[in-house]
Amino acid sequence: MSEFTVLVVGATGSIGRYAVAESLRRGYRTRALVRDAGRGASLPEAAEAIVGDLARAQTLAPAVDGVDGIVFTHGSHGGAAAAERVDYGAVRIILEALGGRRARIALMTAIGVTKHTPGHDWKRRGERLVRASGLPYTIVRPGWFDYNEPDQRRLVMLQGDRRWASNPSDGVVSRLQIAEVLVASLTSEVADRRTLELVAEHGWAQEDLDPLFAALQPDPIGSLDGVLDTHNMPLEGEPYVVARELELVRSRRR
Ligand SMILES: NC(=O)c1ccc[n+]([C@@H]2O[C@H](COP(=O)([O-])OP(=O)(O)OC[C@H]3O[C@@H](n4cnc5c(N)ncnc54)[C@H](OP(=O)(O)O)[C@@H]3O)[C@@H](O)[C@H]2O)c1
Repeated sequence: MSEFTVLVVGATGSIGRYAVAESLRRGYRTRALVRDAGRGASLPEAAEAIVGDLARAQTLAPAVDGVDGIVFTHGSHGGAAAAERVDYGAVRIILEALGGRRARIALMTAIGVTKHTPGHDWKRRGERLVRASGLPYTIVRPGWFDYNEPDQRRLVMLQGDRRWASNPSDGVVSRLQIAEVLVASLTSEVADRRTLELVAEHGWAQEDLDPLFAALQPDPIGSLDGVLDTHNMPLEGEPYVVARELELVRSRRR
């Protein structure tokens, strides 16, 4: 059997670095997508740094070739234009580069993503592309990174995205555990088609994440949103280019 191959998008980021390390720890062949070779120099040697331009699908062919799992941990920091280009754009272009091939997807967005802000809306549109792709997926919406106390390691997976305070009272979780959940989801049958908010409460980390994934409701087949999400972004009100991209993604389904 060939090695399980994982591509990490956003590999040089604060979660991506942990995702690369976790993928290597599990013995996977690990590719790290980087903007330029210099940025890849700080990654572990065992990871294969692949230079790609998230604005040009044709440069991404080597990154997605033969890949079994893709972990998205990229993200921009403010502004609708950057969110469209980076948060949404990276998902759009990697799915385009993947074409009709199959791969398991683990996408990180954010807790509160269904509360309208320009940045959230573009992240949510990225989620919708993944759901429309027909590929197996897990969408993880983490709480506030590393705001947890040292003994706050017991993972809690929520659905419905009802925590909209936009501060750490929405929930907290360590970067390491976010990466662990993303990578674990790639090989978990019971994590398929799950959309979840991820936070940590006081207590020990669970060894096995499958009981947590299994307790979640799957997203309905064909649904653009998470199973319990608020339906506050009707497709009829979406920009034409977004609706068109959803059609393109659906047309690649087999
Ligand atoms: N902070 C929180 O508590 C929190 C909670 C939930 C969700 N989030 C979301 O998590 C996301 C990631 O946050 P982070 O702190 O991990 O960010 P980060 O450390 O800056 O990582 C972002 C990653 O995306 C890549 N990237 C950004 N713009 C790019 C571009 N134009 N082309 C190619 N790659 C690009 C970066 O590559 P380079 O290294 O080359 O720049 C980096 O690998 C953010 O969007 C944020 O909204 C944050």
